[in-house]
Amino acid sequence: MVNRGIFITLEGGEGVGKTSQQSLLAQALRDKSVEVLVTREPGGSPGAEEIRRLLVEGEVGRWTPMSETLLLLAARNDHLVRTIIPALESGTLVICDRFSDSTTAYQGGGLELGTDMVRELSRLVVGEVTPDLTLILDLDVEIGLQRANGRTNGKEGEQQASNHIQRYERMDRDFHERTRQCFLEITAQEPGRCVIIDATQEMDKVHEDIMTAIMERLETRLP
Ligand code: TMP
Repeated sequence: MVNRGIFITLEGGEGVGKTSQQSLLAQALRDKSVEVLVTREPGGSPGAEEIRRLLVEGEVGRWTPMSETLLLLAARNDHLVRTIIPALESGTLVICDRFSDSTTAYQGGGLELGTDMVRELSRLVVGEVTPDLTLILDLDVEIGLQRANGRTNGKEGEQQASNHIQRYERMDRDFHERTRQCFLEITAQEPGRCVIIDATQEMDKVHEDIMTAIMERLETRLP
């Protein structure tokens, strides 16, 4: 792809605050006259949003680790082809809430399918599309789950939202610890692409750290 837009992904465990940070970041970049597309995974295209429901609702053990991974990759392929690639080709900056690193960490690490296996499957589906910058929001697992639980309980009547948070939230603590460790390993392996952001801080400070990382690494490509 020539002259493509910048691709930024936000990653991390449950309750780390990615979605709020995505909105703050999008606004800050729009204030700098950058054209921004905000999207998410699993989801981001009509078909992928349908697959999302299969993944985020229902019983913890409803899928095998491999079937879950293939559903995620099916959703990713649709999202990439229909949403992300056209936006990047038109020069739009894309901020995606979760992408391939979530599959490596959650299914490869958390569900113990193996990170090599997940990366190999991903390579076939994702091809050459690699984020320019990945912000990994890191937080103690217990605090993150408490935050996510509070969010679920606070959404009275929003049954769908509650269901979707709960399937992964209901996975055991060791699953979430393995996932967190895997995100940290990915960062150690790819320090040029990934930056750890301390998500224990106040929301404004997290945003400030995100903006610092973006200016350090991408300023020359911004308008
Ligand atoms: P969200 O709560 O950040 O919107 O994401 C929905 C859930 O999907 C979240 O609990 C993590 C999970 N997930 C995976 O397990 N693997 C993946 O590849 C992606 C994109 C999400």
